[in-house]
Amino acid sequence: METSAVELIELNQRLLNSIAAGDWETYTELCDPTLSAFEPEARGHLVEGMDFHKFYFDLGAGTGPVNNTLSSPHVRIMGDVAVVCYVRLVQRLDSMGCPVTTRGEETRVWQRQNGAWRHVHFHRSAGA
Ligand code: GLY
Repeated sequence: METSAVELIELNQRLLNSIAAGDWETYTELCDPTLSAFEPEARGHLVEGMDFHKFYFDLGAGTGPVNNTLSSPHVRIMGDVAVVCYVRLVQRLDSMGCPVTTRGEETRVWQRQNGAWRHVHFHRSAGA
């Protein structure tokens, strides 16, 4: 079955929403257990597997609203592999209750496995 760029963007948004909500069940449903990642929290190291990410989910979603926006998403589908790139904007409240927005470049790689797309790798830059 053909997958459109819009479907992959929606899947990616669902993944980010699961992070914002601290929804580990949905996050693990969308990710391959061997997920690899470069992200600022790993301080320049490639992390593999889910344990590194679970640490943050176990801390809880926190309080207050969080909104993730994929700005200018670009999708490249290569058969059973897709690359989704965008700038991620995260809106939340700071400790004083004032709205703040952070940003970071993200590249997320998805692989179709037995008909379902699974997140297999991502790279997030430090926010500018
Ligand atoms: N830190 C988990 C993720 O961005 O997928």
